[in-house]
Amino acid sequence: DSLVQRLWKGHASAGMLSPRLQRAMKNYMSSNKHHVFYNGHRKGTQSAKELLCQMKAQAQLKTVDGLEEPFSSLGWADFVPSHPLEQLNKQQQDRSGFKSCAVVTSAGAILRSRLGKEIDAHDAVLRFNAAPTEGYEHDVGSKTTIRIINSQILANPSYEFNTSSIYKNITLVAWDPAPYNVNLHKWYDSPDYNLFGPYIDHRKAHPDQPFYILHPSYVWRLWDVIQSNTQENIQPNPPSSGFIGILLMMALCEQVHVYEYIPSMRQSDLCHYHEHYYDAACTLGAYHPLLFEKILIQRINKGLESDLRRKGRATLPGFSTIDC
Ligand code: C5P
Repeated sequence: DSLVQRLWKGHASAGMLSPRLQRAMKNYMSSNKHHVFYNGHRKGTQSAKELLCQMKAQAQLKTVDGLEEPFSSLGWADFVPSHPLEQLNKQQQDRSGFKSCAVVTSAGAILRSRLGKEIDAHDAVLRFNAAPTEGYEHDVGSKTTIRIINSQILANPSYEFNTSSIYKNITLVAWDPAPYNVNLHKWYDSPDYNLFGPYIDHRKAHPDQPFYILHPSYVWRLWDVIQSNTQENIQPNPPSSGFIGILLMMALCEQVHVYEYIPSMRQSDLCHYHEHYYDAACTLGAYHPLLFEKILIQRINKGLESDLRRKGRATLPGFSTIDC
């Protein structure tokens, strides 16, 4: 069986990655750029329920609220949105919350999926970074409720963050990796890409648009969940935006459909559906512990294996529906 076929069945491992990707992984382990030092436990094989309960307890949504230094002295409490992200699902007119949500990854394999209508039928749709819908509606849909953006989108002018329509009229959630010990002073002084200035500028220009920065402790607690459930050492780098977005939606929604994260039968090396760039690392990971993330999501998938194959669709329960 191929690696992807084994992933569908829950038997994948990093030893099946190509030698190139295995080498890349090892190089990231030895550089350990974010000074990760994991001293938590490694759990034996947990049941899906135990894993979900660990995620629910350990992955409580947290954003930069301006109450901690250095942000408090810089007056950030007045700049961050007044409604917390955790209550985004209570802010529509009927306050009924998000029953069904879709997470749409940017994988090339979503091309020719014809999933657009199905995706748009969800109460809320989460997309990533610069992934467009225009021109791809048939396969990815056109509705966007939340967009997760990494700090490069804010820092690199080529993404046209301030002018592109894909970032307007939606909730924005940005993130950037701090050191693993979550020293906010060090983070503020040397983020991976400088998102802080562009964030404040955007908040001042568009105070009514919900726009949050994820707290770096949230990002690293998600990493801890992955490592604690993986026997091997995973890359000491933050989880991919995909994993962050999936767990964020599990905190906001009763049910989450994730599209083309666990690859479908359309799997290819095409990195993004909107670009002509081919690299298996986009789907299987080099910098991010992406394969381990996907193994974990397969373990909590409540949908059918045939939905993974045909649609690239995993079905996950929202945290509010799990009794722990
Ligand atoms: O590349 P980017 O981070 O913008 O893509 C969004 C997310 O979609 C990734 O973080 C990853 O989780 C997922 N993805 C994937 N396979 C791909 C491309 C993206 O699983 N080929």
